Amino acid sequence: MQIEQIKTPSLLLDVASVRRNAFRMGEIAHRNSSSLRPHVKTHKSIEVARIQTAGHGGAITVSTLAEAKAFSKHGFNDITYAVPIERGKFADAVEIIQSGVKLNLLTDDADTVKALDEAAEKAGGRFDVFVKIDCGTHRVGVEPHTAEAVEIPRLISDAKNLNFAGILTHAGHSYDVKTKDEILDVARHERDVMVELAERLRDLSIDVPTVSIGSTPTMSVVDHLEGIDEIRPGNYIFFDAFQATLGSCTFGDTALTVLTAVIHKDRTRKRIVVDAGAIALSKDRGPVHADTGCGYGHVLDLEGNETGMRVTGLSQEHGEIGAGESDVFHRIKIGDRLRILANHSCLTAAQHLHYNVIEDCKIVDRWERFGGW
Ligand SMILES: Cc1ncc(COP(=O)(O)O)c(C=O)c1O
Repeated sequence: MQIEQIKTPSLLLDVASVRRNAFRMGEIAHRNSSSLRPHVKTHKSIEVARIQTAGHGGAITVSTLAEAKAFSKHGFNDITYAVPIERGKFADAVEIIQSGVKLNLLTDDADTVKALDEAAEKAGGRFDVFVKIDCGTHRVGVEPHTAEAVEIPRLISDAKNLNFAGILTHAGHSYDVKTKDEILDVARHERDVMVELAERLRDLSIDVPTVSIGSTPTMSVVDHLEGIDEIRPGNYIFFDAFQATLGSCTFGDTALTVLTAVIHKDRTRKRIVVDAGAIALSKDRGPVHADTGCGYGHVLDLEGNETGMRVTGLSQEHGEIGAGESDVFHRIKIGDRLRILANHSCLTAAQHLHYNVIEDCKIVDRWERFGGW
């Protein structure tokens, strides 16, 4: 089927780019003797996860326990739930573990360690628990140089019903920089603070089975991964306008676009209005710190070529495109199709229920997505 024939707005997923992106990150892991445990929250699709884990151990990272349940039903049985757990989610975690899945949990809090130990005892099993480390993002996690960075791992190691799985971080602040060189600085720091903390814990006779790091920007540019057991990037499988602007990838590496239809042409203000609004694209502001004119996404033609236009405004189901005196503006008619390369593919994909898989601009398959919490 031709892409013009499907309803709009719809997700288009270029499978050749997905395969290339999967292969490239797989090579980075292999070359550095680290395991790849991709974050599947970007796509929430079984088919994409299979491409991503082919040739690797099959381990995945998730952001919700609903994802853990959905993926485990399709054979993924080594899963890290990479958000700090709280007691309202213990029952779901127990259900997943009792179904035979190896589920790693995460905390940065001493009271939660005690609560997890009690919950594991009550469930008659053992929980595998990572300590989340803050390597500079300041979102969650314990700071690596504090006493807590030793005390919490020791508490877990000493707990009767818990296994200390290791230390885990995510350099989310790699998204705040402007150049590839600056990403490399963050990548080295992410790696080095974790290797140093692991050494400190081992010197204190605390066994650290796994040192786990990784964001898409940092893992795309990192120079080596000595001392790192596992990497967990996720967004790299699709990339997006944000990553290409920072320098994690090129615009040619991006795999996900939204097909949209022109619904209005404003000849006075030289604007085009399309049927992809905030609920089709998400309202992620993108890399404004690196490109003040990024808008809410790049406007591409049907073949995926840049038109030079940006999505300049969004309401729920209307997307406004500032067209100026461009050739496209003069040629375009109501009902014509365009494609939008959105700022943040994880959030854009989350607005949709399925992917229209494309190869050479033709629809070749349909892959469903999971949702919920
Ligand atoms: C804990 C954790 N690990 C891994 C990732 C994947 O990183 P990225 O989205 O940069 O690929 C994320 C993303 O937010 C995360 O929060």
